[in-house]
Amino acid sequence: MKLLSSAAVAAFLVSLQQTGGFSPVVNNPFGASLLHSTSAEANLETATLETPASSDPLLIRAARGEKVERTPVWMMRQAGRHIAEYRELCKEYPTFRQRSEIPEVAVEVSLQPWRNYKTDGCILFSDILTPFPGMGVEFVIDEKRGPVMEKPMRDWEAAKALHAIDPTASTPFVAEALQILRKEVDPETAVLGFVGCPYTLATYLVEGQSSKEYLEIKKMMFTEPTLAHHILKILADNIGDYALFQIENGAQLIQIFDSWAGHLSPRDYDEFAAPYQKMVLDKIKAKYPHVPTVTYIKHSGALVERMAKTGVDVVSLDWTVDMAEGRDRIAKARAEVGLSGPGGVQGNLDPGILFADHNTIKERTEEILLKAGPTGHVMNLGHGIEAATSEENAHFFIQTVRNFRHPK
Ligand code: CP3
Repeated sequence: MKLLSSAAVAAFLVSLQQTGGFSPVVNNPFGASLLHSTSAEANLETATLETPASSDPLLIRAARGEKVERTPVWMMRQAGRHIAEYRELCKEYPTFRQRSEIPEVAVEVSLQPWRNYKTDGCILFSDILTPFPGMGVEFVIDEKRGPVMEKPMRDWEAAKALHAIDPTASTPFVAEALQILRKEVDPETAVLGFVGCPYTLATYLVEGQSSKEYLEIKKMMFTEPTLAHHILKILADNIGDYALFQIENGAQLIQIFDSWAGHLSPRDYDEFAAPYQKMVLDKIKAKYPHVPTVTYIKHSGALVERMAKTGVDVVSLDWTVDMAEGRDRIAKARAEVGLSGPGGVQGNLDPGILFADHNTIKERTEEILLKAGPTGHVMNLGHGIEAATSEENAHFFIQTVRNFRHPK
């Protein structure tokens, strides 16, 4: 794919400053090259939106718990820092927001791991914070510090900034990138959308940046719970709409990341994280019941049952949970609340294993595949791939899963 020149990017950024934000496609300086890909003829007519079909991608069928020919695989954070081609592209597009908000660049970055490794899922290159400006919150992503909010949201006055989202107006580049991705990948590959859950997003709003101990948001939860709930509710409404927008533009599965909810006590998880995860899930399910949903939380060992009881299709486990035990716990928790079927599972190789030799990678990967069994499993890492991972080992991991067949 031909990428944009630096001059075109510079023109784009100038137009951003002039318009005060990302403008709809018609005002986009790349309009001419994008228009063909934004037409409604994007391949959205497949059965994913309506009813399940045997022609749906392998990963989608596996996430629905159908019998599949082999276990599908992708990696969280598969696009990005560990890929040399990506690091090269960063020289031309130095900010994360350029790389994720210029559709052609986001598409190219999303496709890199798919092309190089043949992953069964191609996740949109974007971020959980990407919808923030569309709800009144500005941020930058500092290459060293990560996300930094313009101003931490710590009182009622600051919370007034939050408003309802209109994703078509504020994130047209997400729609464009998803539509192009659906055309670029083969029909056996699933295009994956994702959102951050209200609690995890609120940690960035309130802390103002990444955190280790989450003391500012905890201070708010424990001294001004009404304010915390007010913020979480607006986030839940907006994120539900943003997930629908991704589906309507081509995402065939939605992963919801509540990465930092594992830092909460179970009681606080039940009050501040779970209900808002459920609002997002319910909004998706009410409109698109056949689009699979996946929940991921880091350090979720103590929360597996709670995650399963939300009715999410697939629980993504980190590597601290034994896969066989995890499957068992998910199935029991679902039965307890009257949900049918054992539920799906994703994961859960320790990303650190990709620093080992090939034999170890193969042995550990196949152990998980066997423990998970032949149905309802999407192979993945237990968290995002580490930046220092070699491409060769990432490739070897994906090939190991693609070559594996369950004993008859
Ligand atoms: O890692 C997770 O727990 C997943 C959820 C999550 C994402 N972004 C999804 C994502 C979280 C918690 C974030 C916040 C965020 N955004 C961070 C983490 C900071 C912290 O508090 O620890 C960072 C560094 C960003 C900015 C960002 N997002 C960069 C620089 C990149 C490029 C790739 C990389 O990891 O360097 C991203 C991409 C990103 N964030 C994807 C996703 C799902 C891309 C899609 C993919 O390949 O999976």
